[in-house]
Amino acid sequence: MQTINRLEPLREAVDALRIGGKTLGFVPTMGALHEGHLTLVREARRHADHVAVSIFVNPRQFGPNEDLDAYPRQLAADAALLEGEGVDLLWAPTVDVMYPQGYATNVSVAGLDGVLCGAARPGHFDGVATVVCKLFNQVRPDIALFGEKDWQQLAIIRRMARDLDLSQPHVDRILGVPTVREADGLAMSSRNRYLSSTERDQAAGLNRAMRKAIDAILASHSAAAALATLRDEVLASGFRSIDYADLRDAETLETLERYDGRPARLLVAARIGTARLIDNMAVG
Ligand code: PAF
Repeated sequence: MQTINRLEPLREAVDALRIGGKTLGFVPTMGALHEGHLTLVREARRHADHVAVSIFVNPRQFGPNEDLDAYPRQLAADAALLEGEGVDLLWAPTVDVMYPQGYATNVSVAGLDGVLCGAARPGHFDGVATVVCKLFNQVRPDIALFGEKDWQQLAIIRRMARDLDLSQPHVDRILGVPTVREADGLAMSSRNRYLSSTERDQAAGLNRAMRKAIDAILASHSAAAALATLRDEVLASGFRSIDYADLRDAETLETLERYDGRPARLLVAARIGTARLIDNMAVG
């Protein structure tokens, strides 16, 4: 595996990997890799001849009250994991390479960015869309893979690729990979490390309540009562607050009062201990 942190060698390495018409799959990350990321890498390998992974802790997606410095950085350990997965290229640019002196451009996906997680994190999804647009232009992958766990992020990246007519990767080649879950249903996340063992057990209540709510929505086609029960059950299982629990159109993220058969998602963010956990599931 080559580890590269400057643009010119990256271009050369990508060109070399593409010789003979070989395809390139890409998994963007901020490092602190866990099984969820490795699942994306394995999935990329199934779809492409070569696999590139980026590790870049993107300052533009952290708000003023979010601790960028505290974000876990473990490049050597992450690189060893990726090497073990047979990754061909690790793109690990510095902040100066990504945002050189005078950098001024912002990518903003209006409408999808101010709801759900975006309501509590103004500017966060601008930071995500901006860096992912840059990463796509830098790595020029045929296919890119993202976890469905961050459904809003995935919807925003697809909208950005469609709106900006990106060809590498084409919007149809931006794949969402189903959330990897612990045996009790808890979605895997680097944030789970902040849970005490009691909170870890209680956290499974979130997915349990979501599965029940989906059954109720499918039975009644109506969201309100199912979401009210979900909120009660999540709080009863030990969560201290709920930021949102919504039924939304899977693509536009528009709120749905009723399930009418079009692709929809149940999305929840809730706080337990010091952690804010998110989860989402398809309805139907
Ligand atoms: O999901 C993440 O890890 C980040 O938001 C991403 C997509 C790598 C952009 O920094």
